[in-house]
Amino acid sequence: MLILFFNTMISIQLSAQKKSIAQKVDSVLKLMTLEEKIGQLNQYNDDWLATGPVTIDTSKGNQVRNGQVGSLLNCLGTQRTKSWQTIAMQSRLKIPLLFGQDVVHGFKTTFPIPLAEACSWDLDAMQLSARIAATEASASGINWTFAPMVDISRDPRWGRVMEGAGEDTYLGSRIAFARVKGFQGNNSGELNAVMACAKHFVGYGAAIGGRDYNSVDMSNRLLWEVYLPPFKAAVDAGVATFMNSFNDLNGVPATGNRYLQRDILKGKWSFKGFVVSDWGSIGEMINHGSVKNEYEAALSAITAGCDMDMESRNYKNNLAQLVKDNKVPVVYIDDAVKRILQKKFELGLFDDPYRFCNAEREQAALNNPEHAKAARLIASKSIVLLKNENQLLPLSKETKTIAFIGPLVKPLKQNKGFWDVEVPGVDSNFIVSQWKGLENKMGKHSKLLYAKGCDIEGDDRSGFAEAVNIAKQSDVVILSIGERRDMSGEAKSRSNINIPGVQELLLKELLATGKPVVVLINAGRPLVFDYTADNAPAILYTWWLGSEAGNAIADILFGDYNPSAKLAMSFPRSVGQVPIYYNYFNTGRPATNDENRNYNSSYNDLSIFPKYEFGYGLSYTGFKYTGLQFSNKKMKREDQITVSVTVTNTGKYAGEEIVQLYIRDKVGSFIRPVKELKDFQKLMLAAGESKTISFMIDKEKLSFYAPDPANDQQLKWVAEPGEFEIMIGASSKDIRLKDSFELVN
Ligand code: NOJ
Repeated sequence: MLILFFNTMISIQLSAQKKSIAQKVDSVLKLMTLEEKIGQLNQYNDDWLATGPVTIDTSKGNQVRNGQVGSLLNCLGTQRTKSWQTIAMQSRLKIPLLFGQDVVHGFKTTFPIPLAEACSWDLDAMQLSARIAATEASASGINWTFAPMVDISRDPRWGRVMEGAGEDTYLGSRIAFARVKGFQGNNSGELNAVMACAKHFVGYGAAIGGRDYNSVDMSNRLLWEVYLPPFKAAVDAGVATFMNSFNDLNGVPATGNRYLQRDILKGKWSFKGFVVSDWGSIGEMINHGSVKNEYEAALSAITAGCDMDMESRNYKNNLAQLVKDNKVPVVYIDDAVKRILQKKFELGLFDDPYRFCNAEREQAALNNPEHAKAARLIASKSIVLLKNENQLLPLSKETKTIAFIGPLVKPLKQNKGFWDVEVPGVDSNFIVSQWKGLENKMGKHSKLLYAKGCDIEGDDRSGFAEAVNIAKQSDVVILSIGERRDMSGEAKSRSNINIPGVQELLLKELLATGKPVVVLINAGRPLVFDYTADNAPAILYTWWLGSEAGNAIADILFGDYNPSAKLAMSFPRSVGQVPIYYNYFNTGRPATNDENRNYNSSYNDLSIFPKYEFGYGLSYTGFKYTGLQFSNKKMKREDQITVSVTVTNTGKYAGEEIVQLYIRDKVGSFIRPVKELKDFQKLMLAAGESKTISFMIDKEKLSFYAPDPANDQQLKWVAEPGEFEIMIGASSKDIRLKDSFELVN
């Protein structure tokens, strides 16, 4: 009898264990009151860090205890997350909280800003940096990062270009995929993974005039062809969550946009995760003018498919009434709750709500020397060599005297960039300043002299004399200038993107000494720096490189790492040239060089070319491209062809080259861009070495959204027969080889 009882118990337990997550979610849902369900859709900011306008609310603790909160953001560290989770465990159903955080470019170990990393075109490196960030963040109590940002942007006035992967849809999509994989690891539920969040859905990077939070007006073609694919790539990578966005898209706020969230994301793309609003964006629909009040705002957002309300409180205050008034069917609420509970189960939080709150694990993860090593390498891979006259770089480690000048030489935190995380109990001493990096590298017999020279902003030139003085005593001058780290980022749009203050004037004085000057430009966006570009003999665009900035810069300056990065965004000559991007339409009156601008599409007072184009970046060595070959010059839709090319390292250093494949569809039922990146390979070649590589071309690479003859409101993804030009280049402008083939019916 007793044996029978135990067997029955065991089989009940086993069947409980065997329940699928969906069944477990349903069982929890059945126990929930409407108020508790709405609580799961409510996310608050914790009180000690803010990444948006704060609402004072002293009753958050009680609300968590009453099951009225599903998630917190800006709450980190095992101690703090544990104490909040303990309160959640006092609620009736003990549903654990989710802790979200903007882990955008590292956690304690800070990696280069995402735009800088994108310039490495190194997908494994970017996946690794996200992996390490997730390892640290998850050990510190975080379950969910609001990253990657996968917004395409063609406008460097927009401060948030620093958070994305630049202007190109193909590169951006590959990077989106890699970053999601990096954050989320192999399976959801791994202890060292966090949920990723593809944001901001969608169009945010096309804000008119590059002004943050501004309206977006774009054609359906542009939306589908340029702005949506990186989000689709995130879905394909299994991204757990999406964030909608502050902007309106063609007159409908993204947060209340049903077409985007229910029809495309949850419908056409079958996305099974949940959507969180951006900070307060549900309530902001009142300002947009799409709704009258908070009641209507909540109605609009939930109907559109926004599952969680970040900080606006509109769901909490209105959803119950909306259900009672029969305005919102309870299935909408249930669906949103289920999506959120599903993730909490997948993360293992129902099994152990304190799973991510282990202080020992936290200490080990935050002090892992391997993380710093990886950050150093990835930072080196992100630095773009823009100019190197007479092979001034790399410098010899035996150089006797170097003057290291500029407002960015000694600061620590400036290297961290905008979205660094203030990890509790961690000060800035682990960051390697640029000064320290050089000091670490230089030989015993070399001398390093310092002068600040000037501030980043302002017109004070009183430090120039000292800078010029040490420059005169040196063999070479290194000048570190650029933006402050809070000049590019959220709410950091600028109408003037020149290098600020008197920094370029300082350069002028240093050049007048006749000493060779290497300029390091630290920034979160493509800046305009014509004087520097035209006069300095060597320029490294270092972006904001993170905690290993100093070491990485020194590795590049002295040739321990040969620069391999290429720009993921075009650099304009002036703000008047913005928006600027390489994959434009030819127009009916194309200007093809600066001599034939008259009556052609161009500015009368400016070159037709950007200062530095998409895909551009130098190496200490040179590469020759030869032998373009096609496996076939005619291709049927269901077939593939391969295109091969031989690349030779012609210099004396080993180095990496990013070989870029561009395609132009010569004639289309919608006109096609002058070229589009469709593939790339990053190759390591020893001095003198040659490698032959090949690219596969299939109909995906030739397809675009064309009008659907059966329905003129719809677009159709098609490859149209005709001639396609293949261009193999070292940048979008520096096309080394080209030829064409035909797609036949
Ligand atoms: C607003 C930003 O737009 C978004 O990207 C971020 O994740 C949230 N604030 C939370 O900090």
